[in-house]
Amino acid sequence: MIDTPTTRRAKHPETGGERPAVLECRDLSVHFDAPDGRISAVNGISFDLHRGQCLGIVGESGSGKSQTFLAILGLLASNGHASGSVKLHGEEILNVSRRRLDAIRGEKLAIVFQDSITGLTPHKRIGEQLAEVLTQHRGLGRAAARAKVLEMLELVRIPEAEKRFRMYPHEFSGGMRQRVMVAQALLCQPDVLIADEPTTALDVTVQAQILKLFKGLADHTNTALVMITHDLGVVAGLCDEVMVMYAGRVVEHAPVDELFYQPRHPYTRGLLACMPRADRDSEELTAIPGQPPDLEALPPGCAFAPRCPQAFARCEQERPSLQTARPGHLKACHLEELP
Ligand SMILES: Nc1ncnc2c1ncn2[C@@H]1O[C@H](COP(=O)(O)OP(=O)(O)O)[C@@H](O)[C@H]1O
Ligand code: SF4
Ligand SMILES: [Mg+2]
Repeated sequence: MIDTPTTRRAKHPETGGERPAVLECRDLSVHFDAPDGRISAVNGISFDLHRGQCLGIVGESGSGKSQTFLAILGLLASNGHASGSVKLHGEEILNVSRRRLDAIRGEKLAIVFQDSITGLTPHKRIGEQLAEVLTQHRGLGRAAARAKVLEMLELVRIPEAEKRFRMYPHEFSGGMRQRVMVAQALLCQPDVLIADEPTTALDVTVQAQILKLFKGLADHTNTALVMITHDLGVVAGLCDEVMVMYAGRVVEHAPVDELFYQPRHPYTRGLLACMPRADRDSEELTAIPGQPPDLEALPPGCAFAPRCPQAFARCEQERPSLQTARPGHLKACHLEELP
């Protein structure tokens, strides 16, 4: 058992014993074969996910967030390779047959992507597409599927659901399409729902509404939720715990409040310092100086060293491993304690 915030808090309410995880990911790595060599996109990720839990995955673009979960879903590009172990209800699902994965996806694991239109077929009416999820995966008849879809459209607050049922994706606004995607993902009541930057393309108010709705529905169905985002602000109100990724590795993993109030990794601190705040002018908004490293030529030591304000000699030679900073709080940094 790894010492993550999840495993620490995952006591069974009645027996007090360990509650089994819905999803157990151990030492997951992903690499891609590229013309100039091998790209190490994800390295040694481990976490547990329990029913009703919301896990945030945060990091700059290119840090390996999407590939981690695409690997879990068996959706890597053809030049991608995954290793390690991923168990869903105890069943190994990493690198299993396409047939098995097709059965698992949609029923037990679902994903919502950022670009909502790509998930919907343009020439099919919305209602028909949603009903198919139920007729194909749940074996429902047409009338029952239609009734369930209408109920779900109302749940995700799509006005005039009856009318919208017969409309095509392009007739919906971005925000409405995204609601449809949320409805589609939740229709089969998956055990794990992965939201990969689902609202990034939408304006801030619509984003907040949809994320809240998402979380509410997941809570209602006891679905485990993974919220992938480059925006720490998103995880604050929604997630129970957060994994911060940098250059394909987890650099910090902690309960959400601890991450915000007692961050232990200089990269997390950098991300927090970049967050917009009411007491700060938007002009003062900063980004962490420098760029993430080239994944084909990762430095031997800490990948964050070239950008870290606290780097010292050891950082350039030795890669810090992910270790317990305090019970349930992991960090990968050589600094004993941050000031
Ligand atoms: N098909 C591919 N071939 C080569 N490299 C890839 C491929 N897909 C993704 N990558 C690499 O994986 C890295 C991590 O990508 P990703 O997980 O999508 O990042 P993000 O954190 O933005 O979701 C990218 O920076 C890219 O270099
Ligand atoms: S190991 Fe060194 S370079 Fe890396 S984050 Fe910690 S202090 Fe900075
Ligand atoms: Mg991504």
